[in-house]
Amino acid sequence: MCGIVGYAGGRNAQPILLDCLKRLEYRGYDSAGIAVVGDPIQKGLQLFKSKGEIAVLESSMPEMTGTVGIAHTRWATQGRPTTENAHPLSDCTNRLAVVHNGIISNFMEVKEHLLATGHKFVSETDTEVFAHLVEAEMNGDLVAAVRKALEKVEGTYAFVVVSAGHDEIVAARRESPLVIGLGDGENFVASDVTALLKYTSRFLHVQDGEVVSLTRDEVRIFDSEGTAVERRPEKITWSLEDAEKGGYPHFMLKEIYEQPEAIHDSLLGRMESAEPEPFFQGNSFSSVKIVACGTSYHAGLVGKYIIEELAKVPTTVQISSEYRYSPVSRESPLVVLITQSGETADTLGAAREARKRGNKTVGIANVVGSAITREVDHVIYTRAGPEIGVAATKTFVTQVVALYLLAMELGVQNRSLTAQARRSMTSFLRSLPRYVQDVLNKASEIEAIAEKYARSDDMFFIGRSINYPIALEGALKTKEISYIHGEGFPAGELKHGPLALLSKDSPVVAIAVRDHTYEKMLGNISEVSARGSPVIAIGFEGDTDLPKFADDVLSIRQLPPIFTPVPVIVALQLWAYHLARIRGCPIDKPRNIAKTVTVE
Ligand code: AGP
Repeated sequence: MCGIVGYAGGRNAQPILLDCLKRLEYRGYDSAGIAVVGDPIQKGLQLFKSKGEIAVLESSMPEMTGTVGIAHTRWATQGRPTTENAHPLSDCTNRLAVVHNGIISNFMEVKEHLLATGHKFVSETDTEVFAHLVEAEMNGDLVAAVRKALEKVEGTYAFVVVSAGHDEIVAARRESPLVIGLGDGENFVASDVTALLKYTSRFLHVQDGEVVSLTRDEVRIFDSEGTAVERRPEKITWSLEDAEKGGYPHFMLKEIYEQPEAIHDSLLGRMESAEPEPFFQGNSFSSVKIVACGTSYHAGLVGKYIIEELAKVPTTVQISSEYRYSPVSRESPLVVLITQSGETADTLGAAREARKRGNKTVGIANVVGSAITREVDHVIYTRAGPEIGVAATKTFVTQVVALYLLAMELGVQNRSLTAQARRSMTSFLRSLPRYVQDVLNKASEIEAIAEKYARSDDMFFIGRSINYPIALEGALKTKEISYIHGEGFPAGELKHGPLALLSKDSPVVAIAVRDHTYEKMLGNISEVSARGSPVIAIGFEGDTDLPKFADDVLSIRQLPPIFTPVPVIVALQLWAYHLARIRGCPIDKPRNIAKTVTVE
């Protein structure tokens, strides 16, 4: 996610802004920038930005004088990670500067209107649109201009705006976090408390729909109707490291809990358009080949079921490091390369091989501007925000979301997806964050059951159909952070060998949602129980049969089979997390493995 800081006080703003901005580096970014309102004599706005790290900005920016300013680290979502696209962004008059965290979903239509009315743009970003909207409404009252501009944008945002000649900062929030730090004779705004803990421990959290005005001596909060809001400051005494984790004990847990927002952001502005993406308009594909590693490979396996069901296009999935040894296909499949980091050497090698074979390629990546984006013909970004924990969680879930979107594109293109089916898909996709939140609300139940099995040396995961890959992913999460030997199987395969491994000490996690595989799954659970192994089943709420077969049951809200992988994997992420926590493992940095594998 992007990082935002603002300062209004009696001291020179530039060094304070940089110092605060550096404390947001953990959020991940690809460019940075700063704007300082010149003192009354200059009346101008000093603005500077650069691609790369804050150190690059610090070493190349001019000295700025003024006591009010904003600064930003950009995690690119709309527009490449370039200097032009870095924030702050200004308007035509260069008297305004805006920084933003979020996604303006209707920015293209707003931009077209502004272009038609003579506005000139210098960046590819959605954020620049807002600078022009504020400028168009500006008549001396910055709060009023921002409120008017907000009426025209849709999507998610934390906007922070400054204007030449004004010693005021105006901020607005919808879904993207924003806090106000209260100092003595100075006030601050930031994306999270981490940036400001050095300067204050008194904070006001900005709520959705609110607009805030802050000067060195005053903070005013207005609700969506423009009515002033009184709010008591909170005292936060976190350590800096605690703050970077948002109060969570580990980045992995924070990222598990960020999944509803990550899913929401990944869908934003991507289901409304009636027109398919240009890339798909010109091409038709008789088959799809998905290529990836690790967790991304498991997302690809889920994608196979999704694409074949929605688009009726035969789909194969291959491990990246094996792809180059496979024979060149006579047909020319669409090759989809999934990599959250965008830097995995095996997958980059596969992308180059696919291109060499003359195939059209699509990359599904989480990092804008990462290497994969230069090796494929089209990119679908997962917009999960930076993922610090080595174990992939929110990037996996948003990869699956990207595969729903890809399948719908292919289904619309080859007319296998009816308009009614597309509407139903869109409606369920929009509700996915709530299904995930339901699972997160059951974390204590999951933790309590994990306590019973955390001392196991071996643990098996079984599922069928679209939840077979989820069994594999649950096993991978468990093995990589708890060091329990977790292994996943298609449930029907147990009798072909793995049953020999089962004992009373090897619990089996069985995904048994009430879909077309349910009866067979009950049979597999019985198979396992007959060998004395305890069974932890994951099923639908209200299923009164499952508890008769399993020793423990984790329940998710009922939903169509094609969507069950997302809430089920969230339950298994929490399962793995608590196993690892109980075993005292270094969860964010497991032994022997890295977040990005840049060697083959
Ligand atoms: C997943 O938790 C692991 N960290 C690992 O399997 C990972 O998914 C794999 O290395 C692929 O990474 P990528 O998505 O960045 O290509």
